[in-house]
Amino acid sequence: MEPVVNPEETAIRIDSHLDGSQERSLAEDVLDGLTRPFKELPPKHFYDARGAELFDRICELPEYYPTRAERAILERTATELAALTNAVELVELGSGTAAKTRVLLDALHAAGTLVRYVPVDVTESMVRDCAETLTEEYPGLRVHGVIGDFERHLDRVPPAIGPRIVAFLGGTVGNFQPGSRRRFLRSIASLLGPEDHLLMGTDLVKDPDVLEAAYDDAEGVTAEFNRNVLRVLNRELGADFDPEDFDHIALFNPEHEWIEMRLRSRREHTTMVRALDLPVSFRAGEEVRTEISAKFTPERLQGDLSAAGLELVRWLTDPEELFALSLSRVVQ
Ligand code: SAH
Ligand code: TRP
Repeated sequence: MEPVVNPEETAIRIDSHLDGSQERSLAEDVLDGLTRPFKELPPKHFYDARGAELFDRICELPEYYPTRAERAILERTATELAALTNAVELVELGSGTAAKTRVLLDALHAAGTLVRYVPVDVTESMVRDCAETLTEEYPGLRVHGVIGDFERHLDRVPPAIGPRIVAFLGGTVGNFQPGSRRRFLRSIASLLGPEDHLLMGTDLVKDPDVLEAAYDDAEGVTAEFNRNVLRVLNRELGADFDPEDFDHIALFNPEHEWIEMRLRSRREHTTMVRALDLPVSFRAGEEVRTEISAKFTPERLQGDLSAAGLELVRWLTDPEELFALSLSRVVQ
């Protein structure tokens, strides 16, 4: 099938679906999460401009192996993936700086099928910057950026122009709670037609010391990244957190097979969240859970995929089996 290309379309198109709704979602999440007996904040609020910069530094850390392992798998398998999928477009959820994505774009470009890239991310600057640089790096490439929350705006992803790959890299799928992960995979499946594929990166279960070091590096970059969510609350909701009142904690939970990131209050204190007129009290040693990062076995992934109506086509790992990429499609 020939890709459906509109000759009038310009190289870059960006749609934004945030217009204040992200601030509302932050306010709701804070109201919901910080008034519970076990306090919790959802992870999507980490990634303001500073958070995105800190995350980039995390990806370079010696302890943070997932980025390197996933890149190595992509380098080894991108040509095969291009041949298997014949993809004319790549839709990427949580695209960030699209650093590793280039390996895949290169292979699709070399196969001669690539027409369009659709990055979807909540961080506006990342979508805009990557549209600019990628259209320069790949002459003829169209970029249709979607600035939005992939939990709320998947229906805004433009219709496919031919066989597509939906990529969800970096182990971000592990940041969902198990129930919402399966619901989210089902909504991804609704973006896939019979010729389309999901390419997903998942971190694998391994020695807890290796896992915990990846989320608690010696330089303290991950600790800063974790505390950054408090700076976001100060700026967006007029809260008066002192990030230094909190210690960064990363623990492997063997029962759930996930890493939990928490912020632990060093002293008893009360913070005012002015935009919500909400005082929040912390006991000394009280913790706020800021993120889970689930670690997978092939069985766990299979279970999630089949619950979402997807079937595995390829399971690709690095030689040390640190990380896995899975290629799947909708059960016909
Ligand atoms: N894919 C990149 C970045 C992973 S970090 C990599 O593999 O290195 C997670 C990315 O997802 C960040 O860019 C963050 O801004 C984005 N993100 C997190 N939650 C999101 C949400 N709910 N909707 C859209 N993007 C989200
Ligand atoms: N998706 C990444 C992961 O789970 C995000 C991440 C890496 C992260 N390090 C972090 C999130 C530290 C919060 C804190 O590996």
